[in-house]
Amino acid sequence: MLLLDLSVPGRQGYALPKLDVEETPIEELIPETYLRKSELGLPELTEPEVVRYFTQLSRKNHGVDVGFYPLGSCTMKYNPRVNENIAAMPGFSRIHPRQPENTVQGALQLMYELDRYLAEIAGLAKTSLQPAAGAHGELTGLLIIKAYHEFNGEAEQRREIIIPDSAHGTNPASAQMAGFIAREISSDPRGGVDVEALRAMVGPQTAGLMLTNPNTLGLFDENIETIAKIIHDAGGLLYYDGANANAILGIVRPGDTGFDIVHFNLHKTFSTPHGGGGPGSGPIVVSNKLVDFLPDPIVEYTDGRYHLARPKHSIGPVKAFYGNFGVMVKAYAYIRHLGAEGLRAVSENAVLNANYVLNQLKQDYHLPYDRLCMHEFVLSGKWQKELGVSTLDIAKRLLDYGVHAPTIYFPLIVEEAIMVEPTETESKATLDAFIEAMQNIAEEVRTNPERIKSAPCQTPVKRLDETKAARSPVLTRKL
Ligand SMILES: Cc1ncc(COP(=O)(O)O)c(C=O)c1O
Repeated sequence: MLLLDLSVPGRQGYALPKLDVEETPIEELIPETYLRKSELGLPELTEPEVVRYFTQLSRKNHGVDVGFYPLGSCTMKYNPRVNENIAAMPGFSRIHPRQPENTVQGALQLMYELDRYLAEIAGLAKTSLQPAAGAHGELTGLLIIKAYHEFNGEAEQRREIIIPDSAHGTNPASAQMAGFIAREISSDPRGGVDVEALRAMVGPQTAGLMLTNPNTLGLFDENIETIAKIIHDAGGLLYYDGANANAILGIVRPGDTGFDIVHFNLHKTFSTPHGGGGPGSGPIVVSNKLVDFLPDPIVEYTDGRYHLARPKHSIGPVKAFYGNFGVMVKAYAYIRHLGAEGLRAVSENAVLNANYVLNQLKQDYHLPYDRLCMHEFVLSGKWQKELGVSTLDIAKRLLDYGVHAPTIYFPLIVEEAIMVEPTETESKATLDAFIEAMQNIAEEVRTNPERIKSAPCQTPVKRLDETKAARSPVLTRKL
């Protein structure tokens, strides 16, 4: 039902007092050509009708405030509300990027300190808070790799960025956008980078390697130090895709394992919801030798005041002003209130929760890499597929249990992949309910496959043509 369908001519949600000044005819205010030729055709309703319409509509949607959301790689964890309140405080939300620096010392201090915290978490030297998303951080990092090789007179020859076959799709896309050639490296039987294949691939053409660790299979690469040495010995740089840092906070610092550049998604790990349609933030942190190439501006603290500065060989701005400030405030508040111990507990609980769920499900679903997982894990629905039920069917059936579907068919190297990230914010009771739902579905595949193939049965809309919805979305209603 659309709002317009509820409209009744003449019905109103408000009443304005009569004008007590002389009204200027509209034709005198707006040139004739810009005047509307016909009625706008807005819905006419009372205020409660509008409120009820939108409230009911919002309840048809699934969100982390409504139920469990184990969307692997995306980290749909619950974010503390208090951080939203802090970001909305007028001292943060009402300032303007063009204000003189001496009137926004608090905001600059917050950015500077966030830079320091992220640098500590990454084990690297200096942060740019400018990129607006993970993929934007990747592009920025790759442009820095390019600038570094240019500075050393090697940009012409160093054209290749090596990327594992388990990588997130944004990695090769960013490499391509930055003007590199993306070379895919295969995974070994334990799910890590195939070290021998890597040795054979590197050379004077290598600009760098992009790696997610733990990778998108939820596995920590046991050979990371060897991998770093191979890349550095070949003259390349190591880029860490830290979009999802939920397994490593306070436990492993990418810089200590050889990485030169890291990006974080504040809108995953640090208290801004991912995929909510709102602004994101993908800061990058770099090692000492790359600080001079960071985007313009960075925040510095000298002679007792905070100020914006342009790094010596900056690649230039990658976004207006200094980035999405509201997201930074939430990340800052999150880091400050958890502290070092709290951040470590986030990761310990994320890993514990993932391993608990994994171990309860591996009897019913094929587990291609049977190892200790980190914050997420990847099952395969191939046993169910053999019985005629696809991973998509399983994901749809989960909706009937009030659970958002996990990420499916990614990473690409796992047949019928089901990627689960429980996150640290869920209780054992919620995890147990999810485990039970997945076990029930596995049983249903054996006993009543037709039921699963027609799922979801209990949602406001049933099974959609997802390709059509994505390719030809109807976003407006034509009058
Ligand atoms: C591993 C990984 N890298 C990069 C990204 C890209 O982040 P964004 O969606 O903010 O561009 C994602 C996003 O889901 C991801 O999971």
